[in-house]
Amino acid sequence: MFKEDSLRDHKILVTGGGSGLGLYMARGFVALGARVVICGRDREKLEGALEHFADPTRVSLHQCDVRDYEAVGQMLEREFDEAPLTGLVNNAAGNFLAPTEDLTPNGFKTIVDIVLHGTFNATHHFGKLLLSRGLKGSILNIVTTYTETGSSFVIPSACAKAGVYAMTTSLAYEWGSQGIRVNAIAPGPFPTEGAWKRLVPTPEYEEVFKKRVPMGRFGRPEELVNLACFLMSDLATFINGECVTIDGGERLGGGQFNFVTQLMPRPKLKELMKGMKG
Ligand code: COA
Repeated sequence: MFKEDSLRDHKILVTGGGSGLGLYMARGFVALGARVVICGRDREKLEGALEHFADPTRVSLHQCDVRDYEAVGQMLEREFDEAPLTGLVNNAAGNFLAPTEDLTPNGFKTIVDIVLHGTFNATHHFGKLLLSRGLKGSILNIVTTYTETGSSFVIPSACAKAGVYAMTTSLAYEWGSQGIRVNAIAPGPFPTEGAWKRLVPTPEYEEVFKKRVPMGRFGRPEELVNLACFLMSDLATFINGECVTIDGGERLGGGQFNFVTQLMPRPKLKELMKGMKG
């Protein structure tokens, strides 16, 4: 579907683009001809990320914490002065597993600041810069499969991501009329060093986690990258206010009889059900 230059006329900011899925997406955009801007808190990490790009000359770096509204504004203004951005991927996030009764107010605030306020900060500046210049653009927010259901042990993230989802649908309508599309991706489990360190403590836990996915495996980064490239590209110009889930079906685990798939091997199951026929 993609040609090598599918994103040639695009310039996209990926927040938290120095590692993990943010870096994979940024690399994917560059591979399709885009210019990218990556930002993160750690300059060394950003500089180290450069070697992973097909063409590092098409990448610019900013040390910037998305929680800092002013700093985010300065970064975006500098980039727009050089050449306007066409896209923003709000990827920077924070998360950890914690029993809610053990959370401190600052623990809760920290995640909400990064995820919800960080997304607002970048989105607000980006939108204002586009609107003041009469330019079109595209915003992609990274939410999660527990945005709607909520999830135990990740309450700050669940609350913040639900807010980001509300921002996605609200702005898709408000700014859609001005030519700015706002969409989201809800990834299921994609193993990255940062996420696994914080969310998957042991191999046993990982095995149980994997079994929740009907396809029997975790996501591969390139699968997420393909989706992000599509949504940011001119192939998706009528997609607005949509949240695309990419989780191998994991979110459907709540179906009442879904647990049966894990009880015994398929031939035995078939035998069992055959014996139940009247
Ligand atoms: N369980 C409970 N509370 C935790 C915690 C954990 N695992 N990790 C951090 N916190 C609390 C801290 O105790 C602190 O609260 P306190 O001041 O009341 O003690 C608060 O969160 C802030 O922690 P701090 O380490 O000072 O924040 P930070 O801004 O340096 O780091 C984090 C932010 C905590 C999100 C850190 O994990 C991070 O930098 N993550 C970025 C990458 C990431 O999380 N990616 C998500 C992958 S899914």
